Amino acid sequence: MKAIVQDAYGPADVLEPRDVDRPSIGDEEVLVEVRAAAVDPGVWVLMTGRPYLMRLAGFGVRRPKVPVRGRDVAGVVAAVGARVTRFRPGQEVYGTCESGSYAEFAGARQSRLAPKPTGLTFEQAAAVPVSGMTALQAVRDVARVRPGQRVLVIGAAGGVGSFAVQIAKAYGAGVTGVCSAAKAGLVRSLGADDVVDYAREEIDRDGPRYDVVVDTAGNRPLSLLRRALTPRGTLVIVGGGHTAYRFTGGMGRTFRAPLLSMFVGQRLRPVMSRERSEHLEELTRLVESGAVTPAIDRVYPLADAPDAIRHLMGGHPGGKVVVTASGTA
Ligand SMILES: NC(=O)c1ccc[n+]([C@@H]2O[C@H](COP(=O)([O-])OP(=O)(O)OC[C@H]3O[C@@H](n4cnc5c(N)ncnc54)[C@H](OP(=O)(O)O)[C@@H]3O)[C@@H](O)[C@H]2O)c1
Repeated sequence: MKAIVQDAYGPADVLEPRDVDRPSIGDEEVLVEVRAAAVDPGVWVLMTGRPYLMRLAGFGVRRPKVPVRGRDVAGVVAAVGARVTRFRPGQEVYGTCESGSYAEFAGARQSRLAPKPTGLTFEQAAAVPVSGMTALQAVRDVARVRPGQRVLVIGAAGGVGSFAVQIAKAYGAGVTGVCSAAKAGLVRSLGADDVVDYAREEIDRDGPRYDVVVDTAGNRPLSLLRRALTPRGTLVIVGGGHTAYRFTGGMGRTFRAPLLSMFVGQRLRPVMSRERSEHLEELTRLVESGAVTPAIDRVYPLADAPDAIRHLMGGHPGGKVVVTASGTA
């Protein structure tokens, strides 16, 4: 099969199209004929091997153990392992995969797939899993957003932020999105009641107070973010900004927040996203009810996956960057 492969860690130039064997699947796994995949900052981490700490976490010290990139997947079941009970060949699915989705076929655990939401194209479905599951856990599980609360989403135009805005609205919150001026229209179209242009207003100095702040971007200091919170409010830290990755991945705030949280009235919590079919099923419910629609920034053919990654890591996508399998690799 055709795939986008790397032999060494490095920038997007290390990726090259190549013919490789189809992934073999275990008893609990599903072979998916890939129709679309997506890009998220985690793809860049696995491609570059940065922060270096990730190499010690089992991804390969000198080179990536899995040479094909891509985690989000949407496609059609081609084969199932002996103990797969939830899927059958021919079924349309979406989720995340371990073998790499920038390829014609991908292997995925059945626990990380769900039936593709009706009404979504494969490109739209591929945009959902990694970012949508992260946003769902940030808004529902960590922040426990309730109807009537005021929620501030920083990085509202990005992959995670574009889902967080819609999910917080779906759970009944009033939402303010923080983004660049060029993305204000997009963020309002996602349902934000208000938009703050971070280049003109310092959102968290002397402005309004929020019950929940979801920070997906910018690496603002904890002290500044806390000033945007009510005295009993919750700060959810999703990301540290694209420039902070090299050694520790901008994890400083992630480690400090729970410690500080023990001594202050506000809850300061990082999100460590988990990939589960239960999360996908809730996202399917939100999509099929009309509450959530994936925002797509650009679609690249498979052969141009390196450009898709470069575009994402430019730091200013408007929604999700998608890779479609219909391009030749
Ligand atoms: N904790 C977890 O489990 C988990 C899971 C997934 C992702 N993440 C992390 O979450 C972060 C966001 O991921 P993503 O997929 O949403 O990235 P993304 O799609 O690249 O979006 C980043 C967004 O940040 C905005 N932005 C850039 N500078 C900003 C600033 N100073 N203030 C406010 N917004 C700013 C950009 O929009 P503008 O054009 O408006 O600037 C862009 O839309 C990354 O650090 C990623 O590694 C963590």
